[in-house]
Amino acid sequence: MDLLIKNGRIVTSKQQERMDIGIRDGKIAAIAPGLTDSAREAIDATGKLVFPGFIDAHTHMGIPIMGTHSADDFDSGSVAAACGGVTTIVDFTVQPPGQTLAESVDVRLGKARGKSHVDFALHVNVTDRPQTSIQEIPCLVERGLTAYKVFSTYRQAGMMVTWDEFRDVLRVVDASGGLLFLHAEDNELVETGTGQNVADGNLAAVYHACSRTAEAEARAISRAAEIAGELGARLYIVHLSSRAGLEAGLRARSQGVQIYLETCPQYLVLNEEMYKREDGHHWITTPPLRTTDDSEALWQALADGEIDVVATDHCPFTVAQKQAGDRQFHRTPNGIPGVETLFPLLYTYGVAEGRISLQTLVRVLAENPAQLFGLSGRKGQLKPGADADIVIWDPTPEQVIRADTLHGNGDWSPYEGMTIAGKIEHVLLRGQTLIEKSTFTGENIFGTHITAAR
Ligand code: URP
Ligand code: ZN
Ligand code: ZN
Repeated sequence: MDLLIKNGRIVTSKQQERMDIGIRDGKIAAIAPGLTDSAREAIDATGKLVFPGFIDAHTHMGIPIMGTHSADDFDSGSVAAACGGVTTIVDFTVQPPGQTLAESVDVRLGKARGKSHVDFALHVNVTDRPQTSIQEIPCLVERGLTAYKVFSTYRQAGMMVTWDEFRDVLRVVDASGGLLFLHAEDNELVETGTGQNVADGNLAAVYHACSRTAEAEARAISRAAEIAGELGARLYIVHLSSRAGLEAGLRARSQGVQIYLETCPQYLVLNEEMYKREDGHHWITTPPLRTTDDSEALWQALADGEIDVVATDHCPFTVAQKQAGDRQFHRTPNGIPGVETLFPLLYTYGVAEGRISLQTLVRVLAENPAQLFGLSGRKGQLKPGADADIVIWDPTPEQVIRADTLHGNGDWSPYEGMTIAGKIEHVLLRGQTLIEKSTFTGENIFGTHITAAR
């Protein structure tokens, strides 16, 4: 073996058990108690939890929003990812007017290759001339690009699809063997709410939440699910934020629609009270933070296995970028950081506080996203033959989240001051050490583009 990890508690979606892991040529070669193979190196993981490398299925590195770009590129964002135990990110293409989907994929890969220190996959955003763009989808799926994304809002930014266009994209994506991801907000409700608040001079951060309501989310999910039901197509809802949205999704599921639900840590551990702070506009993200009742519904749904994926929607802006919006909600760039705190928050406020099991955590942060992106053989599970993407977590020390100890380009954290029940000790990407003794050492290690197995 190249490396042995000895005596750790190996956590899978079924169980946790004390075992050793042997790694050869970047792959897991063996998992068993008391492995006796010789190895060039060994890590003693006694007292530690050993997880499969996590997958953040929703990041936006360096995307254009409101005349600026999210603050992390693939370099800084992937260092942050590694420091949080995330070894695969799934980012989004950006399709400016006039660009084909294939070109948008090439541009995005150009930004990630040789920069990202973790493996990366892509969702293909369909925003320009959807009815023309969809003709490319069957070929792209053949290349292993199976994840597509549309928005039911952001009309003024030129990103929205109409419901007729949504139907066409969904039909082609599903028929090609892909999966469509939807940012679900009813644009009419959002534009009316936003327009009314702006006209009334209600520009403080709290009006962001009043303008983009849970009802807008629920209405869009219901409409999309109805269309998915008519087509018999699978559909994935990103960044579910509310009880009403959840209920709409579960109603559709109970009626036989194959609908997958993703939520994010911000909807589990933060709430709209943040908007009342003097610096409340920093927390402007879409969908907005909601109430504690919404968070409770999402935690319960996670515990009940009704939510399939937890991802971050990582889209950081610096304080200066947020301030450029002049504390006006509709002029502040939308998005907050999250990739580095994804697993620590879910472990602390989910597992350590008894809301979800370790098995659920592994399911929603590793196994399910791997399966939905067609990466199952390689990612998301600790098993022989899989990539040796491994996280070793010490659950004993307590840490406090501080922006100045995080690794992205953001200079503030939405989770500042929150306590974390443990510490990342080691992170391996295909057997290579990204984090050693809690320090990033992967400057010369680069991720590869991972496509779905066809
Ligand atoms: O506010 C957010 N989340 N910005 C990123 C784009 C999106 O809607 O996911
Ligand atoms: Zn979105
Ligand atoms: Zn997003």
